[in-house]
Amino acid sequence: MSRDAGEHPTDRDETTALERDFLDHLWPPFTQMQGLVPIVIESAEGAIIRDVHGNEYLDAFASLWSVNVGHGRREIVDAIVAQAAEIACYHVFGVGNVPSIRLAAKVAGLLPGDLDHVFLCLGGGEAVETALKMARQYWRNRGVGSKYMVLYRDRSYHGTTFGAASAQGLSVNRQKFEPLLPGFIRVPAPYCYRCAFGQEFGACDVECARAVEQEIEFRGAENVGVLLGETMIGTGGVIPPPDEYWPLVCEICQAHDVLVINDEVITGFGRTGSWFGFERWDSTPDLVTMAKGLASGYLPLAAVAAREHVYQAFLGPAAEMKQFMSGATFQGHPLCSAAGLANLEILERERLVERCDDLGPHLQDGLRTLLAHPIVGDVRGVGLVAGLEFVRDKETREWFPRSASAATKVRDEALRRGVFVRPLAEGHVLGLAPPFVISPEQIDTIVRVLDESIDVVERELGYV
Ligand SMILES: Cc1ncc(COP(=O)(O)O)c(C=O)c1O
Repeated sequence: MSRDAGEHPTDRDETTALERDFLDHLWPPFTQMQGLVPIVIESAEGAIIRDVHGNEYLDAFASLWSVNVGHGRREIVDAIVAQAAEIACYHVFGVGNVPSIRLAAKVAGLLPGDLDHVFLCLGGGEAVETALKMARQYWRNRGVGSKYMVLYRDRSYHGTTFGAASAQGLSVNRQKFEPLLPGFIRVPAPYCYRCAFGQEFGACDVECARAVEQEIEFRGAENVGVLLGETMIGTGGVIPPPDEYWPLVCEICQAHDVLVINDEVITGFGRTGSWFGFERWDSTPDLVTMAKGLASGYLPLAAVAAREHVYQAFLGPAAEMKQFMSGATFQGHPLCSAAGLANLEILERERLVERCDDLGPHLQDGLRTLLAHPIVGDVRGVGLVAGLEFVRDKETREWFPRSASAATKVRDEALRRGVFVRPLAEGHVLGLAPPFVISPEQIDTIVRVLDESIDVVERELGYV
């Protein structure tokens, strides 16, 4: 059935059919379909999304921390259409297409230092997979094939492909897929609220960073090739590291000839109020992975950026076969690249990264008022990304059981009140990551709705 543009909502029969087809045919990720109440999104603008019934919601998670410039950006749509009229698809296996070259040069220009070489991908997990393979081949090309081990952190999330899943720090995301790849070694997270060493924030010796050195020495530096870490842990619970963490980790890795990959899939392109999270936290990665904010999700787009010394290891006479032996058909896709370029133009023109930095305190201060609730144990975040950690008891910091997640109950209540937020960290944390175009008034609405929703859940759980 066709409808005129702008006509809304979808008629009743079509809506019912869509919801039925959703339940019968669309198999979504990470979703228990039994008992699912379908929500079908139809349109969106700015920070507002609408379902097929015409209900409006505030998108306080920017789809999945991705639609940073907001929904409904005509400029990006126009750029995609204009590019499709030139050439819709051409690969980049030994050739270039115009927008992919422009995008790579643009991203290299935004990155600091000599992170000058950009390998385009289509998703965050694929970017992580690619960076891990680059690290592996880098050491092979340099004649040190023994350096195959990967250090990753507790509570990390890097995607779901086998390599990325092997670096999963959340047990529910890995247990069902064991055995995963060999050589992936877990080190502690810089998680001050639940310090693995029982220390208090500010009075420690950054034991979580020093543990990296102990692990490298235990395994032997000749066996350890790379450390992979989200600059700020996202899905594992929005965990900004202490300032001392990344400089010390990088110093340790450099001293032992271990490459550092900063996974900037969430933090890249402004989410924390800096263009890249590793600038804010003073990290010096050899490889950087990016995705969500690169095209604000208008089309699938991701990238890996490599420093000069990494890239150089892949150069040589044809007979030596030093070129990176990995790739996929749609990498460097012209339409995705055009979307990325238009998105970056908007970020720059409207100074949205600066806006994210300016609005950050408004969001973070508002959310911190929720600490008055007995079940809100911690509120963390920076820029326009935040997490509320729920606890049964503030003194002991005991979590609710996963099967009775307070964050999930609060999410459900917030949804009833027209706000989309997302449980993270196996249901212990509620995540917020609104589009950068969100207004201060919309932020106030989110905080008010969360306040009311937590009240309801606390009543249900017998706290008040
Ligand atoms: C830090 C990080 N890395 C990688 C990924 C995987 O990205 P994708 O879902 O696009 O594969 C995610 C997804 O949320 C992420 O947060």
